[in-house]
Amino acid sequence: MPGDERQINVKGWVRSRRGNKNVSFIALNDGSTIKNIQIVADSEKFSDEVLRPITTGACISVTGKLVESMGKGQTVEIQAEEIEVYGTADPLTYPLQKKGHSLEYLREIAHLRPRTNTFGAVLRIRHNMAIAIHTYFHEHGYFYFHTPLITASDCEGAGQMFQVTTKNLYNLKKDKDGQIDYSDDFFGKMAALTVSGQLEGELGAMALGKIYTFGPTFRAENSNTPRHLAEFWMIEPEVAFIQKDELMDLEEDFLKFCVRWALEHCEDDLQFLNDMFDKGLIERLKSVINTEFVRLPYTEGINILQEAIKNGKKFEFPCNWGDDLASEHERYLVEEHFGKPVIMTDYPKEIKAFYMKLNDDQKTVQGTDVLFPSIGEIIGGSVREEDYDKLMSEIERRQIPMKDMWWYLDTRRYGSAPHAGFGLGFERLMLFVTGMQNIRDVIPFPRTPKSAEF
Ligand code: 4AD
Ligand code: MG
Repeated sequence: MPGDERQINVKGWVRSRRGNKNVSFIALNDGSTIKNIQIVADSEKFSDEVLRPITTGACISVTGKLVESMGKGQTVEIQAEEIEVYGTADPLTYPLQKKGHSLEYLREIAHLRPRTNTFGAVLRIRHNMAIAIHTYFHEHGYFYFHTPLITASDCEGAGQMFQVTTKNLYNLKKDKDGQIDYSDDFFGKMAALTVSGQLEGELGAMALGKIYTFGPTFRAENSNTPRHLAEFWMIEPEVAFIQKDELMDLEEDFLKFCVRWALEHCEDDLQFLNDMFDKGLIERLKSVINTEFVRLPYTEGINILQEAIKNGKKFEFPCNWGDDLASEHERYLVEEHFGKPVIMTDYPKEIKAFYMKLNDDQKTVQGTDVLFPSIGEIIGGSVREEDYDKLMSEIERRQIPMKDMWWYLDTRRYGSAPHAGFGLGFERLMLFVTGMQNIRDVIPFPRTPKSAEF
């Protein structure tokens, strides 16, 4: 408290030091908040020799009195009585000198960028969003279910898996057909990093009723876009006994809870990002929690897009019935046509994964993706095919190797039940909540094609 004469101690990293021959002002930050504390060091107490190593990036410990500040910009400051320098940062080589480094440059020094205001804010928000997610599910009776990261099955069937092996790649044993023999590999079969915890998550839901996963997933998709990572975190709830409408209710309620949580718990950091990068950020967050999401069957979406094309709208990619929507299409629907989030449903089965519940038209499946402004797809979800025969015929049609799926099929063989779930890309949520434009800037150490530094 100001006026309290007790000594306090603060430790942190120097953001800047300025002043004159009588006094130095040090802006110190310990990472706990976007706000710095001002340290006032009188030249009478501290010689030039003590002050000289206190440069941007140095780490110091300061003991002194917390007093009311006469200056502008802060209400309190610390009148330093003792300063200990823990670590210096040579001004000639320390890469974070001036303010306003570009985000591209900061990516090259991802080991130091958490010390910037921007990344401090993003990383504190990231923490808070993780807490929001666990809080939501815990309060709604879900169990946190840990699915394996190493797996032998390709949930999405897109062939984008990173292989895991202890084999000597210089000397691979092949069988008589020229195929690699995995029988003597670590797992005795081909194994890979998971693209999704869903299949095991379904096993959890078929026993515990409501589960969610929250862990890293990996995709070797060679798409160098601002929305794709090779290693990203996914949240996957899976729920027994719900149908499509309840799944969409869950998606909407959950996303609104997370966004509201950010507004309530990350005020200073959001204000900083709003002021520095994106003047519409806080307004956009508020508008999402105050609006009802549109629920739009794919077929109607295609009609809207084709109508737009007729009226002169130009898209790079085609969008005829049966095509997978590109992010330009998703964003047109969300940002221009409706001006709010859209839950798109009932996609052609050919563009979706094998496990989705088939509609009576035999052509579409009960997918429920959520499309967000400035992001595009943020959630991919669906009702699952619970009927053994229908699921089996889809597996056969797609020639998915049966011997790898026996355990999954058992859920449909024994006590099968209607169930549904979705996957939220954590970094896509982070993009939305922070207003950052590139997914590489919302995870501490991004993994993308040709990039695994740090
Ligand atoms: O739509 P996807 O591929 O769905 C699944 O994996 C389902 N098994 C989820 C489920 O139903 N349990 O991925 C889900 C979400 C996407 O909507 C997107 O937000 C995110 O994961 N995502 C990525 N995020 C970053 N980088 C990538 N390469 C991503 N691929 C998907
Ligand atoms: Mg998807």
